Amino acid sequence: MSSETLLSVKNLEVTFNTPKGDVHAVRGVSFDLGRERLGIVGESGSGKSQTGRAILGLTAANGKITADQLQFHDVDLANLTPKQWRKVRGARISMIMQ
Ligand SMILES: Nc1ncnc2c1ncn2[C@@H]1O[C@H](COP(=O)(O)OP(=O)(O)O)[C@@H](O)[C@H]1O
Ligand SMILES: [Mg+2]
Repeated sequence: MSSETLLSVKNLEVTFNTPKGDVHAVRGVSFDLGRERLGIVGESGSGKSQTGRAILGLTAANGKITADQLQFHDVDLANLTPKQWRKVRGARISMIMQ
């Protein structure tokens, strides 16, 4: 993660457990983001919202997240308690739904 990087996502996977089996909603997404804007384009259901929700710790209870790295500034998003999430969300990172 370079000094310009504010958000680093490496090999993000989000898998939902459903009665019909596992749904692999996000498969191996990686990007580094500094102060520039990043647009994520894809067909409906391709995992754009679930990518954002995973970065915000808002994945549904039946979802499991894995990543080689999920780093926001000095915060390791992969290992936050619910209380730590509430501090980060809103104050430092947020999502505007389409
Ligand atoms: N709680 C859930 N349980 C099972 N599948 C889910 C759940 N939430 C989202 N999905 C599935 O994850 C996939 C990606 O959805 P989403 O990220 O909303 O797509 P997009 O925002 O690109 O339209 C879809 O197949 C969707 O049905
Ligand atoms: Mg969406």
